[in-house]
Amino acid sequence: MSNLLRVATMGGDGTGPEVVAEAVKVLKEVAKLENINLELVDFDICGERYLKNGGVIITDDEVAELGKFSSILLGAVGHPDVKPGILEKGLLLRLRFEFDQYINLRPVKLFPGVETPLKGKGPEDLDFVVVRENTEDMYTGVGGFLKKGTADEVATQTAIYTRKGCERCIRWAFELTRKRNNPKGKKLTLVAKTNVLTYGHDLWMRTFEEVGAEYPDIQKDYNNVDACCMWMVKNPEYYDVIVTTNMFGDIITDLAGILQGGMGVAAGGNINPEPGGTSMYEPMGGSAPKYTGLNVINPIAAINSVSMMLSQEGYQAAADRVMKSIQLVTGTKMKSQAAGKMGYSTTEVGDLVCENL
Ligand code: IPM
Ligand code: MN
Repeated sequence: MSNLLRVATMGGDGTGPEVVAEAVKVLKEVAKLENINLELVDFDICGERYLKNGGVIITDDEVAELGKFSSILLGAVGHPDVKPGILEKGLLLRLRFEFDQYINLRPVKLFPGVETPLKGKGPEDLDFVVVRENTEDMYTGVGGFLKKGTADEVATQTAIYTRKGCERCIRWAFELTRKRNNPKGKKLTLVAKTNVLTYGHDLWMRTFEEVGAEYPDIQKDYNNVDACCMWMVKNPEYYDVIVTTNMFGDIITDLAGILQGGMGVAAGGNINPEPGGTSMYEPMGGSAPKYTGLNVINPIAAINSVSMMLSQEGYQAAADRVMKSIQLVTGTKMKSQAAGKMGYSTTEVGDLVCENL
């Protein structure tokens, strides 16, 4: 493996740059300890620039430039003066689609010392991974209006599922389940809605069964998405790896995110696992404009996304080091994961993780 790790950083809006700064601090420190030759290039792409530049979110040249990196660290997109949907579609979704980041990886792990809203559940009960398909479903933008603005208006928003799209995601999830090698038993749960979505999710189910036949060591399991929401709250320890569609994955990972202590902790990776692919890692929280510049936002989620990035890049020892340090800091130092209540500032939390690597 080449020892050069080139990472593009994109702080984005609001508190995004503050959390990315801490993530970068930790990344630099662990690179030193693990002898990784790190090269960082920052991209100034955010809502602020969009407002100043008369509507340019990201140029084609910038997309091409970003495509030369295997990893991008993103802070947050979302600006109070930009209509919802513009930056999300113009930046986040554009990059997911252009770089064909077909896996959205969202680990759900309750760190020591972190409060969960689930009564009687601890870190041993909440440790699973959601693999969300990231390029299809209702996210493709297929649809339109007819007779818009009239009493006869029709709106369609089409969910697209392809054999290729669900197969590559399901296969990746099976491989991940095998690698995770859960001592409680390897289990992959397909979450869908086959009782109602009898075409699209039938394709998912048939593909799951066909691909699953290649993985006799893994228990195959199915939940309807509504039941999954119930089980996730009642018996989260039931899950090992979940594989699901884009839209359902979006929804259940917000539920899962709050179970693991909220947006200050949860991280996600938009992954193109193919050779030469460009992946993008981000804290799941938004730009939190009201906390901007106050040095109070929780950088743990962004640092967590660094661990995920290192693992995907093949630097497992470095990834484990970051993950262990995070758990030490949440378990023995931080008072809370909520902005302003951590007992430390944003930069101090970053320092603590660095000191304990
Ligand atoms: C997420 C977000 C995005 C999504 C939005 C911002 C487009 O909610 O990453 O989960 O729906 O995928
Ligand atoms: Mn979401």
